[in-house]
Amino acid sequence: MTNKLDPWSSSEINDYSKLFEEFGISPFDNVLPEIPSPHMYMRRRVIFGHRDYEQIAEAIRTGAPFSVMDGFMPSGKVHLGHKMVMDQIIWHQQRGASAFVGIADREAFSVRGFSWQKCREIGVEEYILSLIALGFKPDGLIYFQSGCGSVKDLAFELGVKINFSELSAIYGFSGETNLSHMISVATQAADILQPQLEEFGGPKPVVVPVGPDQDPHLRLTRGLAGKMSMFRVEERENANGGKYLSVRGKGALKEALQELKKRIPGKVKLYEEHLDIIQTSDYPFLERLVSQINQPEKKRYFTTELEEVSKFANEIKPYEFSGYEEYFVFRKVWKLTLKILDEIVAEVAAEFEGYAFIPPASTYHRFMSGLQGGKMSSSVPDSYIALTDNPKEGAKKVKRAKTGGCVTLEEQKKLGGKPDECSVFELLLFHLAENDDELLEIREECVCGTRMCGSCKQLAAEKMYEFLKDHQEKRELAREHLDEYNIIYKK
Ligand code: TRP
Ligand code: SF4
Repeated sequence: MTNKLDPWSSSEINDYSKLFEEFGISPFDNVLPEIPSPHMYMRRRVIFGHRDYEQIAEAIRTGAPFSVMDGFMPSGKVHLGHKMVMDQIIWHQQRGASAFVGIADREAFSVRGFSWQKCREIGVEEYILSLIALGFKPDGLIYFQSGCGSVKDLAFELGVKINFSELSAIYGFSGETNLSHMISVATQAADILQPQLEEFGGPKPVVVPVGPDQDPHLRLTRGLAGKMSMFRVEERENANGGKYLSVRGKGALKEALQELKKRIPGKVKLYEEHLDIIQTSDYPFLERLVSQINQPEKKRYFTTELEEVSKFANEIKPYEFSGYEEYFVFRKVWKLTLKILDEIVAEVAAEFEGYAFIPPASTYHRFMSGLQGGKMSSSVPDSYIALTDNPKEGAKKVKRAKTGGCVTLEEQKKLGGKPDECSVFELLLFHLAENDDELLEIREECVCGTRMCGSCKQLAAEKMYEFLKDHQEKRELAREHLDEYNIIYKK
């Protein structure tokens, strides 16, 4: 069965591994070792896939600037599924990301037909209060799409590079689709690219943690990042197999290319629509290149990086790599050259009103199933737990949930339970059991029939009660401190 990813109808994913082949999502296992103290969702394989997360892992390790961005359509109650996204936003924020959260009132207005007033109420009462209660720090930006001028302007500009054929290929839009719905799609792409605007420090890696249903938006936005950029830096090979860098500027102004040539202090050949860098990447060249960066913070960052690399290889001879060590040095120097060049290219693009977007990275997490089995559905309150559910009621829902246990106790003792088909186990795995060893023990006891569902339900219900009670207290605290947060409302 093939997967269809559709952001507007709650899709059920039949086979997560298919997403790897069909949509080019990479398995998360590949980057896991590169992440210092990974989040519980990462360790437990709740996050199963990613695009380009390597650059985020690197930024976390090195302290380079990066952002986390996410959006919530104000459509109904905030529930445990939203908590998963919020937890990830906060985790990245704690690791140095500048954080952006958009309340997608344009989407709710155009797709659900909600009034602006309703969007605002749901946005604040449901999503923003819980986001803050879960630990979002006040230095992040929260905005309603309709109140954010830069997102609206960017969405309009992105519209030049989006045509109807592409929207119908990605989303299945037809002649019946209303224009505002299409605008809301461009707006979401603008949400995702906004952290890279000059006013927020320019191009940088951005991660968008989502469920796989939101991937169409990421595919669109990643394509737009390339199409909107004034230049493209490429690695090329000459006739002798030697590597060199080339900056392609199709459609870029002549003046912009000339300015770029001026800013690269080495051997450069300028053509109609591109320039080739024939200069060897040695230390003196890189030093000169770094000095061409205008932004002081970035200049400082790359100066340190360069010192690191030169310490590592007190003599840099990038083009003579015979042994492993030299190859290693070569890789480091090459990577650094690329990054510094990207920086200068971005500055020149900005001087000529152009962009230099890095395609956004993303992570994909598994969906929780409904408490009664099957899908979670907002029209069936017993299928999910809202973060605003009365704690006693929440605990009751856990006790009524479907387990992977057998019909009789005797049977269960003999055959064991099935934790992978158990929504109580899922609650522990996704949210309630903080300790990996504890979780593993529960799993083992379940499988070999020494654990009965009653004790799991009791444990999970108690933890749920405590979590909801604590969370709701924190929500009330958040309400009192709302004005200390950076929130842009619709005017
Ligand atoms: N479409 C998302 C939803 O249905 C909301 C959203 C808006 C979003 N902008 C975003 C998600 C940017 C991720 C990134 O909930
Ligand atoms: Fe689920 Fe626990 Fe029952 Fe196993 S014992 S099926 S984990 S509730």
